[in-house]
Amino acid sequence: MNENKKLIELFNESKYRSIKWEKYFSIYEKLFNDYKNKGITFVEIGILDGGSLEIWKKYFGDSSRIIGIDNNPECKKFQNENYEIFIGSQSDPGFWKKFYNEVGNVDIVLDDGGHTNDQQIISLINSIKNINDGGLHIVEDVHSSYQKHYGNPYKYSFINFSKKTIDDINSTFPSLKKFDYNLNQFVYSVEFFESIVAFKVNKNLCYENRLLENKGHKSNNTDTTLDVGFINFRKRFKYLYKYRIFQKIERFFIKLFYRYKSKKLKKFFK
Ligand SMILES: C[S@@+](CC[C@H](N)C(=O)[O-])C[C@H]1O[C@@H](n2cnc3c(N)ncnc32)[C@H](O)[C@@H]1O
Repeated sequence: MNENKKLIELFNESKYRSIKWEKYFSIYEKLFNDYKNKGITFVEIGILDGGSLEIWKKYFGDSSRIIGIDNNPECKKFQNENYEIFIGSQSDPGFWKKFYNEVGNVDIVLDDGGHTNDQQIISLINSIKNINDGGLHIVEDVHSSYQKHYGNPYKYSFINFSKKTIDDINSTFPSLKKFDYNLNQFVYSVEFFESIVAFKVNKNLCYENRLLENKGHKSNNTDTTLDVGFINFRKRFKYLYKYRIFQKIERFFIKLFYRYKSKKLKKFFK
């Protein structure tokens, strides 16, 4: 069934209607290319007229398992030997529990459902632990996080949740603050595009980092990275440094020093 056609060709040829923004096609070619003809399980939230189901089946090939989810019971009519259809709401954690119990783990979830903050966040949180290593959770139309008729911009928008995953991923670095509801046991990297966020899953690579040192010859070069000039207490007051109070004073001045230097960067944050 896979005729090795580009997604845009399959989109234009699909018997049933599908709606996608133009830029999505090149993004999906990049994200999905390695999954063609690999017998993957692909889930799309949001079926509407069924056109995208046909596109995915042709794109990923005969061996792929294509699953559509929609809260509109009328979409059940698209069920046939090529597609499995599940009816339920993506903002209902109970639906997701039943869904993954029945379906098992999947490889790719594409969220093109209702685009509200709760729908996108609940779908992500409930799906991520059921996505195989090497898989993806992709959310489309995240411009809704900036649009008034979705109640945004808002502190708890989907895009702000996605930005938080940057903190989550960095928190696997030793000794940094760990977050609640973090995705860092599953999400290895996140890629941001216009209107799309792609979460790459790899539990094996989400371990706490550790510093490696090889056995190479060590020169006596000074590492200038930590040299903060006039406030280098460590060098100047070596004999006092053993006292915790001096370590604290050093940290205080280092903070002041960097805050002062960072002020010049303010213009880049506008
Ligand atoms: C943009 S359309 C999907 C278009 C389709 N993926 C395509 O590419 O042609 C959005 C779909 O999401 C469904 N939807 C809206 N809210 C939902 C919810 N809470 N749970 C599941 N599906 C929902 C709508 O019924 C609609 O069919």
